[in-house]
Amino acid sequence: MQILNGNEVSKSIREQIKQEVIKLKASGGKTPHLAAILVGTDGASMTYVGAKEKDCMEVGFDSTVLRFPATTTEDELLAEVEKINNNPEIDGLIVQLPLPKHIKEKRITEAISYKKDVDGFHPMNVGLMFKGLPCFLPATPFGIVKLLEHYKIDTTGKHCVIVGRSDIVGKPMSILMLQKNCTVSICHSKTTDIEAHIQRADIVIAAVGIPEFVKGSMIKEGAVVVDVGITRVEDTTAKNGFRLKGDVEYASCAEKASFITPVPGGVGPMTRVGLLLNTLNAIKMK
Ligand code: GUN
Repeated sequence: MQILNGNEVSKSIREQIKQEVIKLKASGGKTPHLAAILVGTDGASMTYVGAKEKDCMEVGFDSTVLRFPATTTEDELLAEVEKINNNPEIDGLIVQLPLPKHIKEKRITEAISYKKDVDGFHPMNVGLMFKGLPCFLPATPFGIVKLLEHYKIDTTGKHCVIVGRSDIVGKPMSILMLQKNCTVSICHSKTTDIEAHIQRADIVIAAVGIPEFVKGSMIKEGAVVVDVGITRVEDTTAKNGFRLKGDVEYASCAEKASFITPVPGGVGPMTRVGLLLNTLNAIKMK
């Protein structure tokens, strides 16, 4: 069994990005600039935005974080998005989700110019991805593809079973694995006999948000197991009062898998690098 080490792979990709930025600047090109909008004070969202800011700094990108109170109206937020759409200094924009309940996320994500939509959530980017055309890919599926490619995992003709059908992971992941010549199944909460599907998988991608949902007994000997889950589970012995749990029961799956991602240190750092790659691509696509 080999660990799919997201920490290590993301570090080497970040180093490549850093070198590209140095070259870009030396040749008089623009420094990639990512803007993030954060509305309210959700703990996890503040952590994620802080991490994105730090990642940008490390690779030499410019970054701007715009923080607004939870009472911000939808129209006020739309006006801020429009300002950034029209600001040539800014190449990529993300609006951190979830947003307060009174704001319709769909209206906001669709208001972001698809040319700056480095989250890849805009319907235009979704359509371009569907057709295999140049676009911004959602960061997690993009990062997972990079991870599989790094370890030269053969995908052609393999059966990939994706557990979860979210717009940001399950659905786009299915399209990307199809483009990598996999036979793809998507399982979800209404799937009957989900275990039988997982059992047939050469590659399992678990993105259901249920801690330790995929057990060793469900997988095939030699399967590749990718764990997208990061549920915060209370742990009084931990420094911040919680521990991150994946969607995969690691110990039992590691006994049978050929490759497996740990949590943390697997998919998480690859998601972060996916966003950086998109921001760099935002400059290249201009
Ligand atoms: N909230 C949780 N994940 C994401 C993400 O990938 N992008 C944005 N904008 N918000 C999120």
